[in-house]
Amino acid sequence: MPLTVLDTRPEVHEDPLDLMDEIDELKREKDAVILAHYYVDGEIQDIADFTGDSLKLARDAAATTSATIVFAGVHFMAESAKILNPAKTVLLPDLEAGCSLAESCPPDKLAAFQEELRTAGRDFVTVAYINTSAAVKSLCDWIVTSGNAREIIERLPQDKEILFVPDQHLGRYLEEVTGRKMILWPGACMVHEIFSVQDLLRAKRNNPGSVVIAHPECPRSILEHSEFIGGTEKMRKYVASLGEPTTFLVATEAAMIHPLKKAAPQHEYIPVPGIMTSSGETCACNRCPHMARNTLQKVRDCLKHGRPEIRWQPFFDKARDVLRRSLLE
Ligand code: 13P
Ligand code: SF4
Repeated sequence: MPLTVLDTRPEVHEDPLDLMDEIDELKREKDAVILAHYYVDGEIQDIADFTGDSLKLARDAAATTSATIVFAGVHFMAESAKILNPAKTVLLPDLEAGCSLAESCPPDKLAAFQEELRTAGRDFVTVAYINTSAAVKSLCDWIVTSGNAREIIERLPQDKEILFVPDQHLGRYLEEVTGRKMILWPGACMVHEIFSVQDLLRAKRNNPGSVVIAHPECPRSILEHSEFIGGTEKMRKYVASLGEPTTFLVATEAAMIHPLKKAAPQHEYIPVPGIMTSSGETCACNRCPHMARNTLQKVRDCLKHGRPEIRWQPFFDKARDVLRRSLLE
């Protein structure tokens, strides 16, 4: 059998301005729009037609009339875009851009757990965070994002139990704000789980008067020291609503500093550091390695070659019903 040789050559460095011009040209030629999540590199956000959190981008994808959607984000986002707008070509610059949360909840394990609960006579609805595969979504009753989770959970019938997958930290936070007890899947985001409480407290001490803003994917130990808790779009709107220059300690993916600065340049933003390594250095683990797979070169290449493309799968039909009901109605 022939061996597959991995191409380990580093990406050739190309001038970002030339790449941006090329992308612009290709976008016109292919009738394409670029959607970029707030966690991808700032230079990609700057050339995007739409930027946003998971909820806003899913709605932008559903509404676009362009023939092609380039989704600078991760796999579950591009998959949701395809499901919500099936007639469009959806391209993901790097097919390997996954998500630790989505990986923590394989569909066969979820189906087996749901069966166990049913056999035990439990009457429940399954609510999935959008950070799940389409196969998982097809097994669920509701899909939520950090932007609409509270609202959806508050309208669920009181006589049903709720199975919430896959983010235990977001689930625990939602239990607190909605007062609904839930059965929690034990998943977590590899970026938000790693923040160090000691470093956060040190940063607070070193920056008197600073305000901590945190994503609800952070563990409770971080959220209890935070003045504002919200998803990326809510964070952006919050800092923009405050005119008085303020120092914010930001407990989420580090690329988020870019849209915050754009929305409210009067403030200072300090990323909350990740854990301290044995050599006393703070690691760069507040960058999501999946989001970081998106580069200008890969955006150009996917537009040029029309791949990698998200192709329709049979279980997308079921996932479409639940996604539309949860995000668009
Ligand atoms: P939001 O886009 O809802 O803020 O979620 C952040 C995230 O982790 C996306 O993967
Ligand atoms: Fe997934 Fe966390 Fe990366 Fe978001 S930041 S894509 S939740 S691993």
